[in-house]
Amino acid sequence: MNTPLDDRGRTLVDSLLARLTRAEKLAQLQITFAMTPEGCADLARAGIGALFWPMSAAATNAVQRVAVEESAHGIPLLIGLDVIHGQRTIFPIPLAQACSFDPSVSESDGRTSAAEAASGGVNWTFAPMVDLSRDARWGRVCEGFGEDALVSGVFGAAKVRGLQGASLADAGTIAACAKHFVAYGAAEAGRDYNAVDVSERRLREGYLRPFKAVVDAGVATVMASFNTINGRPVHAHRGLLTSVLKDEWCFEGVVVGDADGVRNLIPHGVASDMTEARRLAFGAGLDIEMGMGTDLSEAAADLGPDALDDARLDDAVRRVLALKVALGLFDNPYVDESAEILAPTPEHLDAARAAAERSAVLLKNDGTLPLSDQPAKVLLVGPYADSTDHLGAWVQHFGAPAGTLADALRAARGDPELTVLPGASIYAPDPALQAQAEAAASGHDLVIVAVGEPSDLSGEASSRADLRLPGDQEALIHAIAGTGVPFAVVLACGRPLVVADWIDVAPSVLLTWHLGTQAAPAIAALLTGQANPAGRLAMGFPRAVGQLPAHYDHENTGRPASAGGQFAPKAFDMGLDGPANLQEFYTSKYRDLELGPQFAFGHGCSYSSFAHGAATLGRDAVGVADLAAGARVTVSVEVTNTSERDGDEVVLVFVRDVVASLAQPVRRLAAFARVAVAAGATESVELAFGFDELALWADDGAGFRVEPGVFEVFVGPTLTDTQTLSLTVTETS
Ligand code: NOJ
Repeated sequence: MNTPLDDRGRTLVDSLLARLTRAEKLAQLQITFAMTPEGCADLARAGIGALFWPMSAAATNAVQRVAVEESAHGIPLLIGLDVIHGQRTIFPIPLAQACSFDPSVSESDGRTSAAEAASGGVNWTFAPMVDLSRDARWGRVCEGFGEDALVSGVFGAAKVRGLQGASLADAGTIAACAKHFVAYGAAEAGRDYNAVDVSERRLREGYLRPFKAVVDAGVATVMASFNTINGRPVHAHRGLLTSVLKDEWCFEGVVVGDADGVRNLIPHGVASDMTEARRLAFGAGLDIEMGMGTDLSEAAADLGPDALDDARLDDAVRRVLALKVALGLFDNPYVDESAEILAPTPEHLDAARAAAERSAVLLKNDGTLPLSDQPAKVLLVGPYADSTDHLGAWVQHFGAPAGTLADALRAARGDPELTVLPGASIYAPDPALQAQAEAAASGHDLVIVAVGEPSDLSGEASSRADLRLPGDQEALIHAIAGTGVPFAVVLACGRPLVVADWIDVAPSVLLTWHLGTQAAPAIAALLTGQANPAGRLAMGFPRAVGQLPAHYDHENTGRPASAGGQFAPKAFDMGLDGPANLQEFYTSKYRDLELGPQFAFGHGCSYSSFAHGAATLGRDAVGVADLAAGARVTVSVEVTNTSERDGDEVVLVFVRDVVASLAQPVRRLAAFARVAVAAGATESVELAFGFDELALWADDGAGFRVEPGVFEVFVGPTLTDTQTLSLTVTETS
């Protein structure tokens, strides 16, 4: 936590711990919700530690007043809420934010969300989610920052800075929660809540890394994940919750369970009743149980000292009370009801608009985009033409709605005559809609086809087995392509989709994800060129579901393929070409698929064009000990905007440990930056990496270490368009 207790706080916490009974302490370790003000008041009076937000500043003040004035010890409440990417002003979904490759986008989301939520009495949110997402079937990929550990950690830390500010006691800041600890995204077959079986190496080098970054950034709380890891549910995993998180990483904040995650230990099959479930969870290091409809008297009475020892109980309560001190709740638990922010302010809308414009990714473009003032007659078709479904999966009903692309495009182009047709349907395909759109196309100079995956199909409990556009939307794209009228596709979605069946017939595709309250004007600005897309994919698009899970930082294998498979009988003569497994045929690939993803991590286009100068390293050798002591290696490159349009370029630096004691990823992101380059101008970009980016998790008990030898350093605008440098890591400095 970023606000350690001072003497006054310590005295307060010590004196409360001395006075609280065991049952009162256990009540502090619960968060639940109640549907009525009376229900909230009853829980507060009984001394519960935390409640879900009762939906207004007035209701929150009322329940805080009961806690302070009517409970036995007058302890104020933690008031929690899922403010995932906006409270009133909704920002792009986190996956989209990561595609900006600009962490200030998430910091600005955090700052805005905290200001709006805190004004209503919320003092704790369950964000950021920093689960690595390597399987697009998993619906929750929309809530995280994509497939890369560095990006996830940097964006997670930025979000924490935005939410928590310089001090939790400051106005307009709230406690953040890094979730879901850990490896929730590795659920087998991409099915939500499913089991996870993962090596320590994958955990350390991948899934745990963003959590470490966010803990280092001072996140106040961490949420345990629903999944098992190698058979042990995380809610009962002492090795992870206590040994790694609290002991090794020195995390002093609060570990909260996920919704009914403790109760779920029973169906997991590791506890026979709630007493045993709580014994396992609190014993493993959980500090707060999140129960959906908790019976406080039962929860408080359940655990005797034989089940949960006093030291662990006191440690958990101390953490909860310390957080309340840090939030300033003992000084003032109330908010100014007249200052509750109920609707987006102009400043917040501007911030959300900038975030939306920075988060979109131009997947391909043959020059159809941006729309010039000519062609004069534009047809807008598709389910997303007139839709307001831009807020994303994790938005409360009070989030400020988005407008429609149709209205925004009319306004942006000054074109009240814009023709708008549905063209297709997501849930009830209707050939008549397509025929109508097809017929209309020929009377227009250009068609925008706005298609997508509804927000509702991503998020929690929304895994999908088929990642194509739902309904008859793909048929609409083909129908418009068949008319011969130039067209561009706007693609809204909450996860990478399989676009293989239509991507080749689409001349230009703007991926918008779900961009939030300001989605529509942002998309219109991007289509018309008032804004210039510069986003890059933080999670690749697969060619087929059968490739999943997939991630760019995979190992090479002993049989790397240089080409995709051929769906044809084996084309060689076994007798003439020697032993069969020496043939090129025996490489790691699918027989029925081209190699690699449809669009890789880091892919994205712009309306500008850029040239990169020769990249240089600040040093071509560095010692192992120097790296361990904090030495950094700089990479410099000059980026020139060779077009007549101002734009942003992203520079990515990847590394590869060529020969190591364990097989290494083919490339691993070591640094990134997004830089604005005016038309015709040149900007110098300097990036740096060090121990953390070069280290591997050793399998001999040594932990992270950098092994001497040659590292390739790849520098460029995308994963594949890079120049290669060489860095030698020496045994001595
Ligand atoms: C369950 C989700 O997994 C978690 O992300 C969320 O914070 C809680 N429910 C509370 O709503």
